[in-house]
Amino acid sequence: MVKTIQGVVVWPDEVLTAPSEKVTEFGAGLEELLAEMYRIMRAAEGIGIAAPQIGVAKRVSLVGRGDGTFFEIVNPEILEKSEPVLLHEGCLSVPGEFEDVERFHRVKVRYQDHTGQAHELEAEGSLAHVLQHEIDHLYGFVFPLRLSQLKKGLLRKRMIKAKRRLEE
Ligand code: CO
Repeated sequence: MVKTIQGVVVWPDEVLTAPSEKVTEFGAGLEELLAEMYRIMRAAEGIGIAAPQIGVAKRVSLVGRGDGTFFEIVNPEILEKSEPVLLHEGCLSVPGEFEDVERFHRVKVRYQDHTGQAHELEAEGSLAHVLQHEIDHLYGFVFPLRLSQLKKGLLRKRMIKAKRRLEE
């Protein structure tokens, strides 16, 4: 598994493209995972991160709000989505690449917090965008997989080269 200097797994990698496992234990282990995700996300200057991006195949993500604060979503699912939009998007696991991706302006999601408490949230705009991106990660979707075959192939080649450089 090749990681950036901040500790983010670089696509293509199986941990990023396989569905992650549901979280069933809400305790110290989850707290530690969240703390590590937060540390790496801040070091990499991300606005969100998913556990598989640090090599842990668990259904846990951190989501950035517009005010610079973050919250955790555990076992999240999208209940509703509406108003299709094309949004410019990047990912810490696909460093240096940005493309337009088909997303939705509004989403309704259900998730648990770090204590296991269930929540429902209706979001729009940038918060809805980050939610869709971070929830995608937990199903094994990285944004290049939502592009045309041509663009996906180009990005894949560039990332394989980038990984070779990181391994040196
Ligand atoms: Co990402």
